[in-house]
Amino acid sequence: MDLELDGKVCVVTGASRGIGRATAQRLSDEGASVLLVARGEKELRAAAALCGERAAWLACDVCDADADERIIATCAEQMGGVDVLVNNAGTTWAATLDELTDEDWIAQYALHVLAPMRLMRAAAPRMAARGGGRIVNVCSSAGKRPSLTNAAYSVTKAAQLSLSRLFADSYATQAVLVNAVTPGGTASELWTAPGGMADQTGAARGVGREEALEIQRSKIPLGRLAEPGEIADVITFLCSARASTVTGAAWSADGGSVAIII
Ligand SMILES: NC(=O)c1ccc[n+]([C@@H]2O[C@H](COP(=O)([O-])OP(=O)(O)OC[C@H]3O[C@@H](n4cnc5c(N)ncnc54)[C@H](OP(=O)(O)O)[C@@H]3O)[C@@H](O)[C@H]2O)c1
Repeated sequence: MDLELDGKVCVVTGASRGIGRATAQRLSDEGASVLLVARGEKELRAAAALCGERAAWLACDVCDADADERIIATCAEQMGGVDVLVNNAGTTWAATLDELTDEDWIAQYALHVLAPMRLMRAAAPRMAARGGGRIVNVCSSAGKRPSLTNAAYSVTKAAQLSLSRLFADSYATQAVLVNAVTPGGTASELWTAPGGMADQTGAARGVGREEALEIQRSKIPLGRLAEPGEIADVITFLCSARASTVTGAAWSADGGSVAIII
């Protein structure tokens, strides 16, 4: 199947590790030029090196008010425009409702709603002017079925789904197709790194890391966490010419954990 991504210019945020890095690699493998964005320069350089000569990187906090302008300007100057945007930067941690501060709620909103909104607002008209494009927002199963592991994460991921649909409706007539992907538990550094979600949810339950991972697996009908590359495959398809009638969708890639069909 030819995804027709050869020669396309793609932006992937949160591209220095995990799902974002795997997505940047997949898009590069398909012949796209990819701009990788994240805050930490060292990891970002290493990720970009995996994506071949056409890749570029920009160390940038997507929550900065001028991040969208910097990202779009870098695409314009170094790559000639933008065809595909993957809003993937995001994070979570284990915290009870009582523990979450107002600042935590605001920070999660800034990262999962305001930052992708600004980038879509900047990129979508430019894609439309080029004849069309693709936007994929990496949301979460927790946005469909709220998880108490972090309520601010769940609520802002639900808002990101709503935002995705709004942009899909706004740009459908201009051939800019906008979709969301909703991963479930995925074995990125977010879960597996020392001090990551496996350790945090284990500590909250008073169990060890392996038992915490087993509890997580037991909630997933497929019985395992996804690999980042498996989520990247779904994202890459939605970025491609082959997804030409898909817009306004929220594709579950959660091993069956959210028990709804729509
Ligand atoms: N892993 C899961 O189980 C899971 C499940 C559902 C949804 N998701 C979603 O999938 C996306 C990717 O998660 P992941 O598991 O791959 O996480 P990860 O391994 O922790 O990677 C997160 C990436 O986002 C970047 N990032 C974080 N905050 C940023 C900011 N303010 N500005 C720019 N870049 C930022 C990080 O780099 P820097 O820290 O250097 O900036 C890193 O490249 C997130 O939106 C997450 O919510 C993950």
